[in-house]
Amino acid sequence: MSSKRSDRLKTNLVHAGRDPHNNHGVVNPPVYHASTILQPSLDKFEAARKPDWSGYRYGRSGTPTSRYFEDGIASIYGGAGAVSVSSGLAAITNAILACVKAGDHILMTDNVYGPARRFCDEILTKFNIETTYYDPLIGSKIKELIKPNTVLIYTESPGSQTFEMSDIPAIAKEAQAKEITVIMDNTWASAMYFNAFEKGVDIVVEAVTKYICGHSDVMMGVIVSKCPDWEQKTRSTSRNYGNASGPDDLYLAQRGLRTMAVRMEENQRNGLDLANWLKDRPEVKRVLHPGLETDPGHDIWKRDFTGASGLFSFVLEDGYSRAALAAMLDGLNLYGMGASWGGFESLIVPANPADNRTATKWEESGQLLRVHAGLEDIEDLIDDLGAGLDRLTEINSL
Ligand SMILES: Cc1ncc(COP(=O)(O)O)c(C=O)c1O
Repeated sequence: MSSKRSDRLKTNLVHAGRDPHNNHGVVNPPVYHASTILQPSLDKFEAARKPDWSGYRYGRSGTPTSRYFEDGIASIYGGAGAVSVSSGLAAITNAILACVKAGDHILMTDNVYGPARRFCDEILTKFNIETTYYDPLIGSKIKELIKPNTVLIYTESPGSQTFEMSDIPAIAKEAQAKEITVIMDNTWASAMYFNAFEKGVDIVVEAVTKYICGHSDVMMGVIVSKCPDWEQKTRSTSRNYGNASGPDDLYLAQRGLRTMAVRMEENQRNGLDLANWLKDRPEVKRVLHPGLETDPGHDIWKRDFTGASGLFSFVLEDGYSRAALAAMLDGLNLYGMGASWGGFESLIVPANPADNRTATKWEESGQLLRVHAGLEDIEDLIDDLGAGLDRLTEINSL
């Protein structure tokens, strides 16, 4: 169905998952709103109920609108197939559920996105599935944590609050040796900046909510599988759980793909410029951005990634009061204070990574602030944050 024209990513982002000449020449795929899908005969009714879910039988099971998006994503990632679901978290939970059964054991990175940890601790435990959290810097030592019933290693790199870089190829090598599946949350880099399948990952989960959509107005996730077997398992798991995405969200997501390369390049540039500027500010103890040469994860990032998104953190020096922090954040003009990232606009949020750790300790005592660099003029972003840091010092010294 998709009209892929090239193996080069940027070209593919523009063309994959569109087929204008099978759609009256209209550039973008049509939006099919459907629950009921009618069949003209018993033969066709039965044929649509194929066990591989490829027929159009009911809105939740898939429509041409979801198929266009999924084919486009699979092509962009170089995977066997993709399944769209209702949120990034739904992609995470359905991908995990496709891999596990009662009595299994999974390994999960300690810096994982918080709600994914909660899913393991509150839901998987109910089905007698055990989770062991591992140090994101573990590398090939992951083999020491593998048990006879380990079926899955879950990775996220860099972590989306603290930005440690995991050695994904080293982890994947140990997993492959024991026929263990590797899932990676690749939302930070997306297909733009990390070729997950080439680095040994079996299943990618991505919050479409972030860079693919890019406009802070859609909740959606996608599960992309390297091989057809995982594509079938993740699709049937998601559909059996009743999970799917709505037609208008699918439309906006496929539209987001077309401009994702230029948006992410600008997010990257603004993020790196901000990070470089922040590291020289006296109020800042540490900037957590793997694209900085001074970052402990820089070598892995340079080896495995082809770029950075606009999301990074910094840690303030100790001793700033809450009132000073509030004065800094409340007075910002351009940075919104709210969850999520990947949109066109800049964001800043305080976070406390220590609350979400069990295998490792978060030792930094200063307040962590996570920034999403949007597409505004970098001079304005620096001026606004600079004025915020000035307020921090001013109010703290009163
Ligand atoms: C790294 C990461 N993965 C997954 C998600 C979940 O995406 P969604 O909000 O679409 O459920 C988020 C959301 O913030 C995230 O930061």
